[in-house]
Amino acid sequence: MTISRRDFIQIAATMGASLAWAGPEKISPARWRERRDLFPEGVASGDPDPHSVILWTRRPFDRGQRHVLTLEVAADEAFRRIVATAPAPVSAAADWTCRVLVAGLRPASTYWYRFTDEDGNGSRVGRTITAPDPGDARPVNFAFVSCQSVNDGTLNAYRRMIFEDEKAAPSDQLGFVLHLGDFIYEVVWYPEDLATRYDRKIYEVARIPGGEKVGNLHLPLTVEGYRAVYRGYLRDPDLQDARARWPFVAMWDNHEFSWQGWQSIVKAGSFERPGQTVKVAANQAWFEYLPARVARPNSTSLESFEPPAVKDVAIERFDADGLGDEPNNRIAIDSLKAYRALRYGRQYFREISGNGIDFGYPVDGKCTLAYSRILDDSEIVIALNLAATERADYITVDAHLNGDGAKLKNLLDPRAQFVVEARGRRNAVKVPLAAHSMAILRQT
Ligand SMILES: [Fe+2]
Repeated sequence: MTISRRDFIQIAATMGASLAWAGPEKISPARWRERRDLFPEGVASGDPDPHSVILWTRRPFDRGQRHVLTLEVAADEAFRRIVATAPAPVSAAADWTCRVLVAGLRPASTYWYRFTDEDGNGSRVGRTITAPDPGDARPVNFAFVSCQSVNDGTLNAYRRMIFEDEKAAPSDQLGFVLHLGDFIYEVVWYPEDLATRYDRKIYEVARIPGGEKVGNLHLPLTVEGYRAVYRGYLRDPDLQDARARWPFVAMWDNHEFSWQGWQSIVKAGSFERPGQTVKVAANQAWFEYLPARVARPNSTSLESFEPPAVKDVAIERFDADGLGDEPNNRIAIDSLKAYRALRYGRQYFREISGNGIDFGYPVDGKCTLAYSRILDDSEIVIALNLAATERADYITVDAHLNGDGAKLKNLLDPRAQFVVEARGRRNAVKVPLAAHSMAILRQT
């Protein structure tokens, strides 16, 4: 499929990015000299497709409300072969972050990019990789990450990923990093309130303006508060280097908004309140700090989020699907939309049973946790024993795909076989698991 320049202008507008279009190679016109101190959160790229990717940086200024950087994208690390140059506006309204959709790129290709301000001060150089064409038979490698907590320890897992990727053969190197959420933990400890946790030192993340303190936890309630947490996380040098090395495909989880929150209700331990304004603030900061193909239904600006006006109103009535029908709740939830979808297959959380008769979902952390992925006509069951002791629980399977007597093997230990049994109305399989161990089951 060919996508026209006009289509890309439309796409960029939908997700609030400016557009750069790749053309014939040129020599760099910018007077770039690296000043990492002026771009303290580094650079990043996100959501590559075969012909485009979103590029990101942050350049805070002391003066003025808006400045324009120059973005350069090159086919070589030395920037002798520039394929795209574009203005990249940054403004106080977006906390000095910018997003540019670069289009017209070649599939499965590596590019380098950098930003330069009006005085020639430059960001570090980032590297990104476009997705392969749908017809490309070569596999794509990726790593997934989630739940990164700077409070609990620096993010040096990224250092290991980078080290291994640099040593790997080109065909074994990563094409992207999938971030499954909890890019931040919005609940933050200050080291003076809590020195250690699990015997580990508590690291400074941020001071949260306008937040709330619940026990020892500080949590943000305003966009400035969330921004402070993102900046605190992005000061981690390993995270910065990872974002500069690979494109990230990112989705949010709970902590991008609120630890125990749901819809637009903020909840952290004993603290609970309607938080429509908080939900919008969390979405705004996510939008500003993570380059991603997301839509802001309430905004048309290419340069800033334009938060919708909402009020923190109690949410008391819920529709048949459990969605609070308080209007501010709907606006807050819809203020940022992502369209991540499995193109194929379904996923189910599975009921379990200790005795093979009474089935239910897990109620504590001392059980077998199981879920199924159904792809086309096969079921893959993932079972985790969360307990510190051996367990042998029954796990529900799909009765159509895994009938009575079907044999499953553990892909992690192919000698281990399991036979599906009819247990009342459901089919299930009994899976013995050592403490804290895991099985991946599939029909033999
Ligand atoms: Fe998490």
